[in-house]
Amino acid sequence: MAVAELVAKCLQAREMAYCPYSGFPVGAAILTTGGAIITGCNVENASFGLTVCAERTAIQRAVAKGYRRFTAIAVTCDIKDSFVGPCGACRQVLMEFGTEWDVYLTKPDGTYRKTSLRDLLPLAFTPAHLQKN
Ligand code: THU
Repeated sequence: MAVAELVAKCLQAREMAYCPYSGFPVGAAILTTGGAIITGCNVENASFGLTVCAERTAIQRAVAKGYRRFTAIAVTCDIKDSFVGPCGACRQVLMEFGTEWDVYLTKPDGTYRKTSLRDLLPLAFTPAHLQKN
């Protein structure tokens, strides 16, 4: 089943996180329309502001591999007692590549809560707005 695989892949990706400053590993896995899964982890930097979140690492890897159409993303961190959403910057970056994403907020034990990018970023600014001038 695609969701189970997506969730498993985001958990694996979290193990690759480079987060010596925050100690807060994050993993992401993106599902393309064709069924491929591309993963990412957060990559921190000694110049803290240059840190890149897991979600954006994943989407940039995906685009670099030639994928631009996506259906879902699973995201996970180490927090066990609540479902944690992507940061605001990552929501905007995901929205660049489509408004219809399923988003699986995944706990370390693999349980998840399904939501959508539309619900996470209401009244979004999208590429479509640039066509309307
Ligand atoms: N982080 C992510 O990877 N994704 C998010 O959506 C929120 C935050 C990372 C950035 C930083 O490396 C660490 O979590 C703490 O903020």
